[in-house]
Amino acid sequence: MRKIVVTSGKGGVGKTTVTASLGRKLADMGYRVVMADADVGLNNLDVVTGVDSRVVYDIGDVIAGRCRVFQALVQDHESTAKILPSSGGGEMSAQAFRGVTDSLPECDFLIIDCPAGIENGFHRAVSAAEEAIVVTTPSASAIRDADKVVSLLRAYRLEDISLVVNRVRPDMVARGEMMEAADVARLLRVPAIGVIPEDDCVTLYQQLGRVPSFALSEKAFCLLADNVANRTKKYAEPATFRRRRRWR
Ligand SMILES: Nc1ncnc2c1ncn2[C@@H]1O[C@H](COP(=O)(O)OP(=O)(O)OP(=O)(O)O)[C@@H](O)[C@H]1O
Ligand SMILES: [Mg+2]
Repeated sequence: MRKIVVTSGKGGVGKTTVTASLGRKLADMGYRVVMADADVGLNNLDVVTGVDSRVVYDIGDVIAGRCRVFQALVQDHESTAKILPSSGGGEMSAQAFRGVTDSLPECDFLIIDCPAGIENGFHRAVSAAEEAIVVTTPSASAIRDADKVVSLLRAYRLEDISLVVNRVRPDMVARGEMMEAADVARLLRVPAIGVIPEDDCVTLYQQLGRVPSFALSEKAFCLLADNVANRTKKYAEPATFRRRRRWR
């Protein structure tokens, strides 16, 4: 099983969005996927994937011995992936979280949605992983915080670190008002494996279900999943994406 943590320096840059979309794409490719929420208190992977109303047990219940790990897994509506929700409060040690992820039923990918910040939650999520995807937007503050996280990840001896640049606006990049992903990757000295455009469909369809395949961001998430599955580092700057016309 490959254990990948999706993390960031700055909060709100798209970790949960990347976790959900990447997990679903890998599941569509035929892989057995579990997406785990490592955020205690501000857990929202269950909300973003739309399974929150079907959560019976969460990781906290597994740790407390109230259920077995497979009972806490919730089937995603939109793919074959399963979601391991986090509890809405209390403390969870890194060791306990790792114990739960180690006891998961056989699967190909464990994608861990890391909480924002570099405190306990970060330690918990990263300790359970063997690879890391750092998500950043192209803004200066997000990049600076991502840089700190990359250094920290190296201190954890997580050498397989890659980058997803999210919310890229091709029009702004073309006008020189936004950094392109290649420059962000160079600054952070981490290979980019995904460049996701700013796409209103992401927010809209997070409320309704799955982002439709014609959305701009979907092509980018497919490329990201291909890279993860094949351990490649290919990507396309969003300027090259075209919204596919749907003729009736
Ligand atoms: N590519 C995108 N285009 C447009 N909106 C996006 C994109 N990616 C994420 N968003 C929106 O940005 C908001 C924050 O995303 P998300 O919750 O995934 O961030 P996060 O890093 O997990 O946040 P937190 O640090 O609070 O856990 C959400 O409303 C989401 O819909
Ligand atoms: Mg999140």
